Amino acid sequence: MQKKNKKSLRIFKQLSAITPGGVNSPFRSFHEMEIPTLIFVKGKGSKVWDIDGSCYLDYLGAWGPAILGHAHPQVIQEAGKAIKNSPVLGVSTPWELEMALLVQKAFPSMEMIRFVNSGAEAVEAAVRLARGGTKRSLLVRFEGGYHGHGDSVLWSYGPEEHRSPKEVGVPEGMAEKTVCIPFNDFHALEEIFKKRGEEIAGLLVEPVTGSMGVILPLPGFLQQCRKLTSQYGAVLIFDEVLTGFRVAFGGAQERFGVRADLTCLGKILGGGFPAGAYGGGEKLMEKLAPYGPVYQAGTFSGNPVTMRAGAAVLRLLSKPGVYKKLEKKTKTLLSGIKEAALTKGIPVQTPYAGSLFSILFSEQPVSNFQDSLKIDVKQYILFFQKMLKNEILFPPSASDAAVVSLAHTESEIENTIKIFSQIW
Ligand SMILES: Cc1ncc(COP(=O)(O)O)c(C=O)c1O
Repeated sequence: MQKKNKKSLRIFKQLSAITPGGVNSPFRSFHEMEIPTLIFVKGKGSKVWDIDGSCYLDYLGAWGPAILGHAHPQVIQEAGKAIKNSPVLGVSTPWELEMALLVQKAFPSMEMIRFVNSGAEAVEAAVRLARGGTKRSLLVRFEGGYHGHGDSVLWSYGPEEHRSPKEVGVPEGMAEKTVCIPFNDFHALEEIFKKRGEEIAGLLVEPVTGSMGVILPLPGFLQQCRKLTSQYGAVLIFDEVLTGFRVAFGGAQERFGVRADLTCLGKILGGGFPAGAYGGGEKLMEKLAPYGPVYQAGTFSGNPVTMRAGAAVLRLLSKPGVYKKLEKKTKTLLSGIKEAALTKGIPVQTPYAGSLFSILFSEQPVSNFQDSLKIDVKQYILFFQKMLKNEILFPPSASDAAVVSLAHTESEIENTIKIFSQIW
């Protein structure tokens, strides 16, 4: 059982006085869960520890990166070697090459690759490259998808939908250059290309969504994205920040057999260190500076710690059987939860892809943003709070994706199901 949170409460109060909301990223806040945000100090394998000594089984996985579990010894060893030789050199290193080759092996569509420091940066840069490469400016994306906090991709994200661009700090001109359509809507997709196809620089797709719940693309939907972008000369951008190395080693592109023009990566890529990457065909990528006109740069981009830690993770993930094992654990967990929920008469949807999953308290399957608004948030709050009391951590948000790691054991998963069936 969770210990008393005295230290957590004190530090969170002090943090809140100095940092907006007490957090350095809004997702971390527990405010939607109607409890103060906990303060954590350590992670190892499938567990994380808070500052008061409670040890939680972790299904948050640092919002995605921790696919091997926390602080994997081989990854820590590689990072340690890099730190010893200076964590940042600001010049080119051999580890950038090793890492680029590993990424390319997983994502053959990334003929050329640029490393950056976060998923948001990768998306921002890819969108600019799509615009520069096509000399067009309209970006089409999907309602409720999350692609980081860049101006081009923030407008019309999630519950802020009703707010004006001015209010959220996005220039109106920029907002006008972004069109949002419902995910999985073939008709809306075809209509926007029919109406404005010649203006469209890029179509930005989260091939499996995360922030509005795990939503799988309907059969043929990604293929239709591919077909229309090719037909109209627009760039198909897959935001695989969350799905890359998660839903398969080669991400959604491997799982669904669709090749993107530009791919954005992050999260798992950096072995626990800040990371992002984007890449695609040579012709487009060569439009980037230093030789091309599209500028993007970063002091810490491709730094040796991220490159070496990331390469250690990718080497481990590329071993045979890894993704089967991960998916088996996820299936066991979700079928147990579904069965327990059914027994208690609680409507729940448990969509998943590989080891990425959501527990959505909804009568109906969720296939787009409008469906996700019908999720029973109160039920999720109850679930989150009760699981936390039993030292099991899920995302502090009713619709966000959770993850299973290689470090999660069968008995930990069985115990999660047991506790889930006892909390109602
Ligand atoms: C699909 C997707 N794209 C982009 C991002 C932004 O990545 P980062 O938080 O590393 O900037 C996220 C983060 O959750 C994401 O899930």
